[in-house]
Amino acid sequence: MITCVPKQIQRSPLPLRSMHAIASTRRRVLAVGLIGPGRVGSTLLDQLRTAQPRLARDSGLELKLCGVVASKRMWLDCDDAELNGRHDGAQVWRPNDLDAFAEHVRGSDGRHALLIDCSANDDVASHYAHWLAAGIHVVTPNKLAGSGPLSRWQEIRAACVGGARFRYEATVCAGLPVVQTLRDLLDTGDELQAVEGMFSGTLAWLCNRHDGQHPFSTLVREAHALGYTEPDPRDDLSGLDVARKLVILAREAGWPLSLEDVDLQGLVPEALATLPREQFMERLHELDAPMATRLAEARATGGVLRHVAHLDRHGHASVRLAVLPATHAFAHSRLTDNVVQFSTRRYCDNPLLVQGPGAGPEVTAAGVFADLLRIAESLAVKA
Ligand SMILES: NC(=O)c1ccc[n+]([C@@H]2O[C@H](COP(=O)([O-])OP(=O)(O)OC[C@H]3O[C@@H](n4cnc5c(N)ncnc54)[C@H](OP(=O)(O)O)[C@@H]3O)[C@@H](O)[C@H]2O)c1
Repeated sequence: MITCVPKQIQRSPLPLRSMHAIASTRRRVLAVGLIGPGRVGSTLLDQLRTAQPRLARDSGLELKLCGVVASKRMWLDCDDAELNGRHDGAQVWRPNDLDAFAEHVRGSDGRHALLIDCSANDDVASHYAHWLAAGIHVVTPNKLAGSGPLSRWQEIRAACVGGARFRYEATVCAGLPVVQTLRDLLDTGDELQAVEGMFSGTLAWLCNRHDGQHPFSTLVREAHALGYTEPDPRDDLSGLDVARKLVILAREAGWPLSLEDVDLQGLVPEALATLPREQFMERLHELDAPMATRLAEARATGGVLRHVAHLDRHGHASVRLAVLPATHAFAHSRLTDNVVQFSTRRYCDNPLLVQGPGAGPEVTAAGVFADLLRIAESLAVKA
């Protein structure tokens, strides 16, 4: 028998006073330290500041910004009236010292502490295991831990057994719910069979626009001018960033993949790979003929060219330019969209798709913020 609950009861919100009562009994304080106040990090700080009153009011969560560290220096006890009213005027500048920074954020009063790594630095990633073992939660959009040496990754996972949590949703397709979707599938007993995706907004845009009207190099220059590429477009064209995302997803599924296991076919010819950036940009036209040939091959079969990452349960992983049928889901992606397709035991005939913009400071910071909130949600109330 199915019981229907009247609509007005289903939708009736809690009276405001009850919400405030719940918020005050669930009051949790989370000490936060931000590593890397660059594009994503500073956008995240803005988002945290804006959300702070709502979080305190609706869910009893008080975020206490204790410090910010950049590549050369750090600020402790940040002077931020909204995020950290208690420390007003106490800002102190010092040279970068990650250990001292983490100790400062953790404090000595047994409080909840969380570090947000918004750098792209490997040395910072090397500290995660130590921080987690010390009980400090870590969230990050930095791909270097998830796709770096497997032994370091395993140490990081092992360091979480004490209860500290490590989350990294924004490492794959920025704010899109990709890692969490995979986690939910696995946690509910599904089995991953394959992942296929377009993980680079830049390469998706280039493939969408490459229709034979303009040389490929013209499109790369246009993407560069629009800020769609990294400062050195080879960082996108090499496919390395895409391979890193594939490794992160494989490890999430419990498959011990490393970067060197990925069959990576980049778009940059060997002769151009190590040139200084300016010389590479001058010789960009050398990509035109091979890309025109690939496009003609695709068209001869009625297909389209797409930059695709593929992973299956046998451990086969590849990143390459592929010819796909015009009916394929990836043939209809828009602009710089990322697409991830999970084939699982449950989603086998019709795979599960996650699609949308997969880069940019706003959506990436929001992905990091959502990770922070998931951790905060699980925190015990401390006196
Ligand atoms: N931008 C996106 O759309 C996007 C999308 C997905 C993922 N991500 C990832 O998000 C992260 C941040 O990207 P971003 O675009 O914000 O980069 P960014 O603007 O270059 O900022 C990087 C920040 O990291 C700091 N930093 C570097 N080394 C450090 C160290 N050893 N200790 C402390 N701080 C250090 C830099 O400090 P200085 O200011 O002193 O140089 C800078 O503030 C990267 O891992 C990136 O791969 C970005």
